[in-house]
Amino acid sequence: MAEVLFFSYTGNSKRIADAIAERFNLKVREIVPKLSLPYPAWLLLSFIPNLGVPVKEVEVRSDRVVLCFPKWTFNCPPVTSLIKSGTLRGRRVFLITTYGGWRGEQYLRGYAKMLERRGAKVEGMRLVKRSEVEDVLSDGGFFDDLEKFLGQRVK
Ligand SMILES: Cc1cc2nc3c(=O)[nH]c(=O)nc-3n(C[C@H](O)[C@H](O)[C@H](O)COP(=O)(O)O)c2cc1C
Repeated sequence: MAEVLFFSYTGNSKRIADAIAERFNLKVREIVPKLSLPYPAWLLLSFIPNLGVPVKEVEVRSDRVVLCFPKWTFNCPPVTSLIKSGTLRGRRVFLITTYGGWRGEQYLRGYAKMLERRGAKVEGMRLVKRSEVEDVLSDGGFFDDLEKFLGQRVK
């Protein structure tokens, strides 16, 4: 079994998460911070590596998880919090990060390491520029790696 988890502030990562969930008929769950903060506060927090913020409990039931989230400077605290909570321990994870176009590779590798340290196995990673979200989704190739990861054919 597999499911899609996402955090999204301006909707790009949600767009990807929803498209994957729809394509593979998976459940999609949102990571929701307990506090609703304005942009300048998130921006400030995104400069602090490894910082988490309280998030509402997310129930993960599947052994395979596609995790979609944005690149935020050095850290996306709601996602860091979820990973640190150990919720993804023992799961196989495919990471998808949407970003503006600045230093995404390093950020994704950092999250992959964090997940592995917390007992998850990262089996795939993908960066998507926010300006290319729709193009990427309409290119069937995007779903090929996911299809392998999920062990499921695209409908
Ligand atoms: C607090 C904050 C920090 C960001 N930092 C970066 C960054 O360092 N590099 C980058 O390419 N984009 C950065 N962005 C842009 C987002 O990664 C990009 O718009 C992403 O697609 C947003 O995803 P979302 O719509 O799912 O929230 C940042 C956005 C925010 C809100």
